[in-house]
Amino acid sequence: MSFRKDFVWGAATSAYQIEGAWNEDGKGESVCDMVTHTPGIIYHNHTGDTACDHYHRWREDVALMAEIGLRAYRFSVCWPRVMPAGTGAVNERGLAFYDRLVDGLLAAGIEPWVTLFHWDYPYELFLRGGWLNADSPRWFADYAAVLVDKLSDRVTKWMTVNEPQCYIGAGHWHGWCMPGLRLGLREMLLAGHHALMAHGAAVQVIRARARQTPVVGWAQANSPTVPASASAADVDAAWRVMAGMGGPGLPVQESIWNNTWWSDPALLGGYPEAGLRLYGAAAPKGKPADFELMRQPLDFYGCNIYQGYTIRAAADGAPEIVPAAPGRAATLLDWPVAPECLYWGVKFIAERYRLPVVITENGMSGHDWVDADGAVHDGARIDFTRRYLRELRRAAGDGAEVRGYFHWSLLDNFEWWSGYKHRFGLVHVDYATQRRTLKDSARWYRGVIAANGENL
Ligand code: FCB
Repeated sequence: MSFRKDFVWGAATSAYQIEGAWNEDGKGESVCDMVTHTPGIIYHNHTGDTACDHYHRWREDVALMAEIGLRAYRFSVCWPRVMPAGTGAVNERGLAFYDRLVDGLLAAGIEPWVTLFHWDYPYELFLRGGWLNADSPRWFADYAAVLVDKLSDRVTKWMTVNEPQCYIGAGHWHGWCMPGLRLGLREMLLAGHHALMAHGAAVQVIRARARQTPVVGWAQANSPTVPASASAADVDAAWRVMAGMGGPGLPVQESIWNNTWWSDPALLGGYPEAGLRLYGAAAPKGKPADFELMRQPLDFYGCNIYQGYTIRAAADGAPEIVPAAPGRAATLLDWPVAPECLYWGVKFIAERYRLPVVITENGMSGHDWVDADGAVHDGARIDFTRRYLRELRRAAGDGAEVRGYFHWSLLDNFEWWSGYKHRFGLVHVDYATQRRTLKDSARWYRGVIAANGENL
């Protein structure tokens, strides 16, 4: 079992979580600025105002990527940095930042993988209803055109949106993801409908305007399940949960963590039956043209996979969740360590959507610190990543077309509602001094990349 020869080894970040420079060089405000500047929402009132100061330190960060031996770097563009009001005027100084970054990456031999949108929605458009506004797909397409025109002479790898599960489901219903709203189910689903149309419109723009043949995907938050045993009944039960709308017996709010509501319209042409049954009258009606727009051919399916839970078949064959044993391994965010979820998640996605898969995010939160010896000994991250990568390799060996893996994250960064409490990076960041320290995991990952994973 091996990874393909051209397997893409990378690391990922997103703009708001690392850039800082929240009000520099003509950048407009985003909903992230709105939320983080409201006291009492984010852990210790942390903000991304400075974050990792990547906006000013990107050269150093590219040098770190080269030191780790990354072949690719997934980053996102801050929409209101490029278009301060979200639509209309372009801010050339903001756009120039990404232009320089792309040049710097290519000069270091690192391929840029660009995500158009990772939650930092323009505040001015939020005031006009944001994703609830029926014009929002067009706003997004216009923004996409600006980036494609500027970068597609050098960038070929594009992802439209990151995790509608989060910025629509958690962000417009649960209230704990950007932009922090608690709307009704119907309004959340309408926002999601527009976001799916925006995805489709952006794919069209990329294909129509790119100066080199583009490779287009997205990044979804996938929720795999792991069968309790290899028995056909358990495997079937776990599979049914992955195709369904949230785990058995869980409240309806948990249904946003599904694999199909956000993917079927874009890849199979409509919302899944199970979702339409669950949401009933709240489900968006949608015109045929909406669904035509959503369904655009993709070149790869990007999966963000961190955790999974175990499912078994009850006596009657129905899926049931296996309760977690006390003291089971979990990361600092209390996400269960479940390496097999990379195997089962990838198998499910590859089979249902018949697309090559790229792991666009995977990693773990810890509370790493710089040891008295000056190093950062994050052995747990090495163990975590090794186990997950072995399962990914197993999926590839079983016939799933797995093209790449991006570790989340390159740097410790602003972890949304948890502020700087959680550290996800291969590189430790001291936020007071902005000093970067390669963790043990970064050195280990360098060896994995050099051996194309043969040494896992
Ligand atoms: C994902 C997000 C990413 C990061 C990781 C830990 O849901 O896409 O920005 O917060 O989780």
